[in-house]
Amino acid sequence: MKNDYLPHKAKITSIQKESFDTNTYKVVFDDKKIKDTFDYKQGQFAEISVLGVGEAPISITSSPTRKGFLEFSIRNTGKVTRAIHDLKVNDPLFVRGPYGNSFPYDELKGKNLYFIAGGIGLPPLRSLINMVMDNRKEFGHVKILYGAKTPDEVCFKKELEEWKNIPNTEVWLTVDKPCDGWGCSVGVVTELWKETNVHPENAVAILCGPPIMIKFVIARLAESGFKDIDIVMTLERYMKCGIGKCGHCNIGEKFVCIDGPVFTYNQVKAFPTKEHAF
Ligand SMILES: Cc1cc2nc3c(=O)[nH]c(=O)nc-3n(C[C@H](O)[C@H](O)[C@H](O)COP(=O)(O)OP(=O)(O)OC[C@H]3O[C@@H](n4cnc5c(N)ncnc54)[C@H](O)[C@@H]3O)c2cc1C
Ligand code: FES
Repeated sequence: MKNDYLPHKAKITSIQKESFDTNTYKVVFDDKKIKDTFDYKQGQFAEISVLGVGEAPISITSSPTRKGFLEFSIRNTGKVTRAIHDLKVNDPLFVRGPYGNSFPYDELKGKNLYFIAGGIGLPPLRSLINMVMDNRKEFGHVKILYGAKTPDEVCFKKELEEWKNIPNTEVWLTVDKPCDGWGCSVGVVTELWKETNVHPENAVAILCGPPIMIKFVIARLAESGFKDIDIVMTLERYMKCGIGKCGHCNIGEKFVCIDGPVFTYNQVKAFPTKEHAF
């Protein structure tokens, strides 16, 4: 009988430090068949576990266009993530999934895209960003607007430089507290509206970040003329099973683990609780 809760064993093949509390883990499944057939979509998540400790839902930050491995950017916030941060290259990590819906892809073709992220909100968007970069000609202008507390907390520093050099692509950074030599903006992510045009024509905005950031970004997008349906976001919710069985993640009739984590703003507005109403 198939066991939905059975994770697959994988090996950590590299660890990239992103900031003082966040690392990106590249993992490869031990079983060649799983490695070759594990199929996921941009924006999905997996349940990652350390034996004897527990599991946590983590977005798959690698792009489905890049095969043979998975990447997870993990912030050390609690029991499981602390145990993952204690692991080293070649240590085992257990993965079950992929779960959840995904960012629209075909619907975004030909559109101008605004990726707007705060802090650890960039990793969940990176899967789609790299998928877009790997098929760059299929999309219009791309702007990445990214805010972090300090320059040290900016994730994917090398990749942000690479994205900036791709034609028809812009990267705008801001931090709350700059350090010596910081050459970009200072202030919250909506400050970037002063630096660059954010225009709704033929555009979709894709957001991920803390609720307070999402709230202010949505307000600025609305002021700029974006329709609710053209604002897409990925939500976090306390989860257990990841497969619609335990009821930990539901908001009204919706289960964030199966109906989400990706929602348009008009879907979020229809949620019965104010918690995610922004
Ligand atoms: C779809 C999805 C994608 C995610 N992607 C990422 C990712 O890419 N990278 C990443 O670093 N994190 C991600 N997270 C968040 C991550 O799953 C949580 O931070 C998770 O709780 C970490 O597990 P832990 O055992 O290390 O921490 P925990 O021990 O669970 O503690 C983490 C925090 O959650 C709080 N908490 C614990 N229990 C509850 C509860 N019952 N209700 C509310 N709060 C509680 C704790 O107080 C603490 O502040 C994602 C979450 C979801 C739902
Ligand atoms: S996490 Fe169990 S129902 Fe969604």
